[in-house]
Amino acid sequence: MKRLGVNIDHVATLRNARGEYHPDPCYAAKFLKKIGIDSITIHLREDRRHIKDSDAKKICSIKDLLVNLEISTRNEIVKNALKIKPNYICIVPENRKEITTEGGLDLKKNKNKIKKILKLFKDKRIRTSLFINPSLKDIKIADEIGADCVEIHTGKFANLVKSRKNFQNELKRIKNSSKFGNLMGLEIHAGHGLDYEATKILSRVDEIKEFNIGHFIIGESVFFGIRKVINNFKKILS
Ligand code: PXP
Repeated sequence: MKRLGVNIDHVATLRNARGEYHPDPCYAAKFLKKIGIDSITIHLREDRRHIKDSDAKKICSIKDLLVNLEISTRNEIVKNALKIKPNYICIVPENRKEITTEGGLDLKKNKNKIKKILKLFKDKRIRTSLFINPSLKDIKIADEIGADCVEIHTGKFANLVKSRKNFQNELKRIKNSSKFGNLMGLEIHAGHGLDYEATKILSRVDEIKEFNIGHFIIGESVFFGIRKVINNFKKILS
């Protein structure tokens, strides 16, 4: 069984649309834990457009819940993340104008900075992951600078699947990167843009141990309820 991490940023997006309290991402985290997800992912963005620092603190204090906090490399965010004390962190690139995380980290350019950040979290026994494109070069750098895991950006693959275009080359890149990373001793995760169909295809890649899925789960829950949607994903990942 592969692990399912659920990104609840868009529960906060919905709450913030009204500027009030409902729906509460902390309640969503507790509810999802009860129905058997493996971890919760939240992204503390520099502009705090969805999850706020207070949400992150509350969610990280829920007993027996594993929380994966996505962060950029900005000093203020790193400092806050060390205070928030999640179980896991995933470093992601962040560009103010983007609607969502558009690609993996530029590891070649930011290698030294990211290496230092990884050490800060590893010293606190927090699992570290890097969000990267499916590239052998990036896998090599991730291993060199001491990451525990890599999360492969599946956005391009998922878009090809959704638009019924040929996804074989992109799938090959994901498979090769996963195999190579696994050989290097990195734990392999996948995320971004995943729906049922894209997840089903990637669930056959043995090396991928964890999927982090957000937007589709929250959107699909509007029609079918989150319990049903999570059960569907659990079936796909079993
Ligand atoms: N993994 C990472 C590292 C992300 O940045 C995101 C989006 O915030 C996701 C997974 C989830 O992507 P989606 O919401 O498209 O499922």
